[in-house]
Order: sequence, then C-alpha cells, then structure tokens
Amino acid sequence: MVVRSLITGCGSCLPRQSVSNHELAQRVDTSDDWIVQRTGIRSRHIAGDGETTSDLAFGAAQSALAHAGIPASRIDLIVLATTTPDHTFPATAVRVQARLGLTTGIAFDVQAVCSGFVYALAVADNFLRLGQARTALVIGADTFSRILDWNDRTTCVLFGDGAGAVVLEATDGQGTVSDRGVLSTHLHSDGRHYEALWVDGGPSATQTTGHVRMNGQEVFRHAVSRLSEVAAEALAANGVEPGQLDWLVPHQANLRIIEGTARKLHLPLEKAVICVDHHGNTSAASIPLALTEAVTDGRIKCSDLVLMEAMGGGFTWGSALVRW
Ligand code: ACO
Repeated sequence: MVVRSLITGCGSCLPRQSVSNHELAQRVDTSDDWIVQRTGIRSRHIAGDGETTSDLAFGAAQSALAHAGIPASRIDLIVLATTTPDHTFPATAVRVQARLGLTTGIAFDVQAVCSGFVYALAVADNFLRLGQARTALVIGADTFSRILDWNDRTTCVLFGDGAGAVVLEATDGQGTVSDRGVLSTHLHSDGRHYEALWVDGGPSATQTTGHVRMNGQEVFRHAVSRLSEVAAEALAANGVEPGQLDWLVPHQANLRIIEGTARKLHLPLEKAVICVDHHGNTSAASIPLALTEAVTDGRIKCSDLVLMEAMGGGFTWGSALVRW
C-alpha cells in the first residue's frame, strides 16, 4: 500500500473584466493579428482596482472546496504558488487561510513563476505522502497585470490575471499506474537563465516592485525542448506511452509552444486542453484554470490519465502525471 494524493475538487476565479486584443491595441502599438498569430491569445482577464491575488486565490479555494464537497475545516495544508503576492510578506497563503476561517495547519507560498502550480502540487503531494498533512489546498494565483510595463508591447500583450485551485486528499493506493491520484512529479531548474525572463526590481536589489522583462526568443527556444523532455520523463517513470494519455494540460503561455510540445510527444492537439486564447498567460494559475475548465465541461473524467507540464522564469520547469 502507498499513500496517493487524490484530487477531489478543483475550482477557479477570474476577474470580471476581460480585455480583448483590439482594446489593447488602443493602448500600445500592437494588433489583434500580430498577437493571435504569434501567441494564439485573443483576450485576457485583468484584475479591477483593489482586486488582489489573495481575492482571486480565495475565490478559487472556495470553489474547489465546494466541488470537493468538504468544509474548509478539513484543510491542514495550503500551498499557494504566486509571483505576485499581495505584499512582500507575509505569504498570500496565510491571508487565504484566515479568510477560510482556519487558525491551525500549515500555509505558505511557493515561488517558481509559471511552473509554480506544478511545484506547489509536488510539495503538497510530498507532505501528504509523508503523512505531515491529510487534506491540502494547492492554489495557483497571479495578478501579472500589476508587474507589467504597459508601454512594452513585447510583454504586456502576453499575460492575464486569475487563480485556480485543487483539493488533494490522502488515500491508499496500490503503487501502480492504475491508482487514482498524483502518480509522479518531476521538477527542474537552471538559474543560468535568470535574466531571460525576470522582473527588474525586488525588495533586496532595488527596493521597488519592478516590471517583467523577457528575451522572448530565448524563452521560446528553451520552452519546447524542456517541456517535451519533462513530459517524456513523467511518461518513462510510469511506464506509460503517449497514446495512453487522455489529456495533456500544459501551462498556457503560447499556443505555438503547446503545439510544438504536443508534436514532439506525438500527441494529437485535440488531447491538449487549451484556454490560452481567452486567459492569456496567467502564470501559476494557468494549469488549474485549464483543469477546472476541462473538468467542468466534462472533458476530464474520473480515472482519466492527465499529464501537466509547465516552464517559467528561472528557468524552472516540471511535470505531474495524475490519474483523475
Ligand atoms: N505587437 C506588434 N509587434 C510586436 C509586438 C506586439 N505586441 N511585440 C513585438 N513586436 C515586433 C517586434 O518589435 C519585432 O519587430 P521588428 O522585426 O521590426 O524588430 C517583431 O514584432 C518580431 O519580434 P520577435 O520578438 O522576433 O517576435 P517573435 O516571433 O519571437 O514572437 C513572442 C514574440 C510571442 C514573445 C515569442 O518570442 C514567444 O512566444 N516567446 C515565448 C515567450 C513566452 O511565452 N513567455 C511567457 C512566459 S514564459 C513561459 O510561460 C513559458
């Protein structure tokens, strides 16, 4: 017998305001055609005045708990992935914890940028498998609109705001690929690429918040290779062929990256859950937002084999193979 982290609920929360490429083109020198052709993005949600990362994270947490059908009091671990915390400290996770009415248990943030959700899922899975927690909320939440340079057309068209969450519950499994739950996670990082995708400010370096800066072509080149490698690593570790996958749930950065990764894995694009067109890149929120959409509309069903993969600043990258 082994302990498996079963995903028993998922949920999401998006800001009300959706901004189309046409609307962006009125603010910066860009066009709907350019953005759609290069990225597949058509619109993104942008947080309203005063709407914070913790507001979105709390909304996603409530919706995941409702979907799992359990009260917040069962949660003994909250791992929240974000690059855009409400404040430099404390962790945004403790704000969510308090708003859920919890005064016990563990709550902390994980910072791995766009890989944040996969990192947070791996951390929570390890807590559950070691018996340090029984029921976890794993949240990916970001308000990248707050750290964009709205005069830089090479970055501001790419990102959006949002939050997604899953509930993980410790259950017994046989230790085989037929088990439901998280089957494996694989994480990597390589800090030599620090400035390929970074924010040019921070409490220690500049005492400012800073703005997103990116060498888009370098990120693109690395993304397809690293993502297909880490996806293949997950399949090999579990003795699974690409044809056995029901769904690929990739980080939603760019449609061309998703297409390139699916091609390298010999997976038909129809097996990839795609929502980058209406979310843009929501960083740590992108995978749980995509999961929630595909579960809600009935695509992802009980016992489906789901592969998640993500890459982000650092570089960081990772994958998780889950039987739903
Ligand atoms: N609108 C119109 N023109 C633009 C825009 C814009 N928003 N942005 C750049 N351009 C112009 C450039 O100035 C350049 O003009 P020039 O030829 O006159 O110099 C031209 O378009 C081509 O620019 P490139 O940077 O070469 O465009 P490219 O085809 O590489 O596409 C993009 C840029 C979309 C950023 C691409 O490199 C990419 O997708 N990279 C991956 C980045 C990414 O996904 N980052 C997200 C975070 S990382 C992650 O999540 C994996």
